[in-house]
Amino acid sequence: EQINKGKYEHYMQKEIHEQPESLTTTMRGRLIRGGSCKVKTVLLGGLKDHIKTIRRSRRIVFIGCGTSYNAALAARPIIEELSGVPVTMEIASDLVDRQGPIYREDTAVFVSQSGETADTLLALEYALENGALCVGITNTVGSAIARKTHCGIHINAGCEIGVASTKAYTSQIVVMAMLALAIGDDAISSQTRREAIIDGLIDLPNKVREVLKLDQEMKDLAKLLMAEQSLLVFGRGYNFATALEGALKVKEVSLMHSEGMLAGEMKHGPLALVDENLPIIVIATRDACFSKQQSVIQQLHARKGRLIVMCSKGDAASVCAGGSCRVIEVPQVEDCLQPVVNIVPLQLLAYHLTVLRGHNVDQPRNLAKSVTTQ
Ligand code: G6P
Repeated sequence: EQINKGKYEHYMQKEIHEQPESLTTTMRGRLIRGGSCKVKTVLLGGLKDHIKTIRRSRRIVFIGCGTSYNAALAARPIIEELSGVPVTMEIASDLVDRQGPIYREDTAVFVSQSGETADTLLALEYALENGALCVGITNTVGSAIARKTHCGIHINAGCEIGVASTKAYTSQIVVMAMLALAIGDDAISSQTRREAIIDGLIDLPNKVREVLKLDQEMKDLAKLLMAEQSLLVFGRGYNFATALEGALKVKEVSLMHSEGMLAGEMKHGPLALVDENLPIIVIATRDACFSKQQSVIQQLHARKGRLIVMCSKGDAASVCAGGSCRVIEVPQVEDCLQPVVNIVPLQLLAYHLTVLRGHNVDQPRNLAKSVTTQ
């Protein structure tokens, strides 16, 4: 059934729309709601003998390519917050090119949908040689990365066929949020925060179902943008990754130039590009960075930027005060889970742009689902 398009025209479309179900499968049996002592916790069977080592490691290094790298970037802040362990990010090919330092006291986490990406596998071999504890996060049971790592977590998102990764991305973030919860499980000081995240995870499929209702709105936006040459996406904090991943989706399937940018860097270069023609998506949902994003919007308004603002439900009027803009309103969830909700409208936008521009949705030119050569 999973490899059938069902009522959908393309696999990518189907995979975007099945995210409430794939996320449910990812979490199945892993969230423990209580028991006699009423403590909510997570259970990650594949890590049970290693979680203490991970907690005591000197550093956690996330390694991946493309969308898998972006998913790790989205999870980085919550892993840092709940584990207290420094987290660094490595694009697999770059780590190998530099032969960057990896130590025995490191935990190296390899994120890969296919589990077969050559660059990630090479980085894994390099980390094994250097004695790090190697953890795999893959969607493919029995894949090379799943086999060669010391331990790991399957994301259980189901078979993904569209070359552009969608449901695997959201399941990867959820698995890494659960990893953060498992590492931080021994800290009494963050118990309330962890319970709020677990409640947020339980409700997340419903919120994703809600945000999928924006399909027609994103199709209308795609009609407006289909003839553009370029699109920028600004995000920060938890949603820097959303900006990178949204732009990656647009460029890989619709073949429109698109760049995701850290909003904090806007004034250090990208601001020069702003005029009344270039469309810019600003992600400004509610979290600790919200007021900073409001000031970014003001600065873009002052330069007559053509803005599309993604904000939390109920914030439409306030985020656009001081200029005109189009708004995408999304349901608010726990801050560290917001990237799972926020990416969905951008996946829909990339999908509709591709169909409208007449390109191949499931097999974009020059790209492969799994890149097994260097
Ligand atoms: C290819 C695919 C991307 C994917 C990347 C990493 O470039 O086209 O969609 O994100 O590989 O793949 P992995 O299977 O390692 O997640």
